[in-house]
Amino acid sequence: MSELIQLGNPNQRPKQLRPEDVKLNFSEQGVKEIEALISHYPNKKACILPGLWLAQREYGGYLSGDAIAEVAYRLERSFAEVQGVATFYSLYNSVHAPGKHKIEVCTCLCCHVNGAWNLRDYLVTKLGIRHGETTADGMFTLEEVECLNTCDKAPAVQVGSKYYGPVTEAQLDALLEELRNSEESTVVQYANDIVQVQLRAGEV
Ligand code: FES
Repeated sequence: MSELIQLGNPNQRPKQLRPEDVKLNFSEQGVKEIEALISHYPNKKACILPGLWLAQREYGGYLSGDAIAEVAYRLERSFAEVQGVATFYSLYNSVHAPGKHKIEVCTCLCCHVNGAWNLRDYLVTKLGIRHGETTADGMFTLEEVECLNTCDKAPAVQVGSKYYGPVTEAQLDALLEELRNSEESTVVQYANDIVQVQLRAGEV
């Protein structure tokens, strides 16, 4: 079985909850923010994408069945509709819970010809995980991704909201060490950064 098929295993996808089983776990701040986001759009359906980013932050970086059910509840949409959106876009973590930090290695053309596969192999060996997997301590998830739109820095890597490149093995070592010592999850930070941009966009 290929790794991509493994990632898309429907048995790993969030299960639909009955309406009576929906739990509401958004923080007070999260509730205020989703109400503000809803006010930016002509209807609640249009708020599914930002709502999912908010849920990804509120649920620690993972859109579990509970997270999707809460978005569906707050936006008055069906679970299936919100789940369909969440599982369509790979930037949403809806198939499996990521580690504290997701290391996204671009293996597209410019990065490929500048040594991306060597960097990918270096990380596979160093972390002991392959594409789509998470280290046993829950610290790192490794993903190979398509063009990060920072080709001038090839080979490029993205962690949270930051881009790195051209990356060398020594720089990867330093980055892993820095991430290991950071208190915050860059996966959660990234979701929050997107939420804050969307909130600001509505103020214009
Ligand atoms: S090909 Fe890697 S950033 Fe564009």
